[in-house]
Amino acid sequence: MNSFRPSSFLSPTQIYLGISSHEMLNDIIACWHIRHLLFLCDPGVATSEIRSCIEKILKGNQVSFDMFTEIEPEPSSKTVEKAYEIYRANQATALLALGGGSTMDTAKAVGILATNGGRIHDYEGIDKFMRPPLPLIAIPTTAGTGSEVSYSCVITDTERDIKMSIRSATLNRAKVAILDPLALSSLPHHVAAHAAMDAFVHALESYVSLNANPITDAMNMHAIELIALNIRPFVSNRNNLEAGLSMLCGATLAAMGFSETGLGNIHCMARLVGAFFHVPHGLSNAVCLPYGAEFNLMANPEKFARVALAMGERVQGLAPLEAGRRAVEAIKQLNQDLGIPKRLREIGVAKGMLPEMARIAFESNYNRWNPRYTTQQDFEVLFEQAF
Ligand SMILES: [Fe+2]
Repeated sequence: MNSFRPSSFLSPTQIYLGISSHEMLNDIIACWHIRHLLFLCDPGVATSEIRSCIEKILKGNQVSFDMFTEIEPEPSSKTVEKAYEIYRANQATALLALGGGSTMDTAKAVGILATNGGRIHDYEGIDKFMRPPLPLIAIPTTAGTGSEVSYSCVITDTERDIKMSIRSATLNRAKVAILDPLALSSLPHHVAAHAAMDAFVHALESYVSLNANPITDAMNMHAIELIALNIRPFVSNRNNLEAGLSMLCGATLAAMGFSETGLGNIHCMARLVGAFFHVPHGLSNAVCLPYGAEFNLMANPEKFARVALAMGERVQGLAPLEAGRRAVEAIKQLNQDLGIPKRLREIGVAKGMLPEMARIAFESNYNRWNPRYTTQQDFEVLFEQAF
């Protein structure tokens, strides 16, 4: 354990998992007495087989539904308002989200408005709404963000051009998450790779966080193992259902972990790369990962040694620091195998912005649980190395 500070663990989402587990919808509909729901569907899976299967289940159970598919990456408050208008017209009693983080976050925001009223802007911050949202059934179609079990949703306020984070550990979670690898089969190769690397970074940063505890350690260690062993077969073939299920479980475990521990330098850097240069979140994280990992290694070599072992590296007989270095090397190899660019310059980052990004990274304090204390100058060096 990294520290002796009091910590906790909460994960109130019921999780169904397995190949064809989407069929559990039949039981949920009966148990919740659902007659009408709002179905939010990622446009990327609008023509997929999983969507047809789900509609068939809804119709078979005489459940009527409104469909909302106009969801963009990094969803805006305008998108939330459009979906909320559809909810208001027919007053669904539950929400169903089939998609990645953007779809699940939009659904969470609609659920909050449905029971609390007002605008989503009213609830920016921590515990700003009091009434439990409309119950949400989340079926992730990427193995990445883990929004199905995390307690936040991120909505872009286009008027102020900022991202609003709406958080509540007790209220802002999906009531049910269904991890079915059949939902991953239509993922494009690069989206699968970027989302998977996001999940890996969640597990790694949460595992070495100063806020980690034995419960999050167990989850993150297994998440790292599941992801490291399955990421290549899964990205190579999204119809490999066993690899897909392992990836979904790894991503969900990692999100349960980081919901308690927070993240670190890698996400801190990647958030700025995404904000300034509109690079997909998973890709920004993947490019920053080797540099952030190398920087953190000496803060906790023992944990990095265990990461190396979980990634399948031979570390027997090595001193912790040397074994930990194998984890950093394994991460570089993983990036190379997945075709992740090595440098920020290759994904459109401008060198002139690096000092400003380092300043914001330092001042945001987003990395407060990072295992190695990081100065503004450290961030400058990290961005320079990654550039
Ligand atoms: Fe992330």
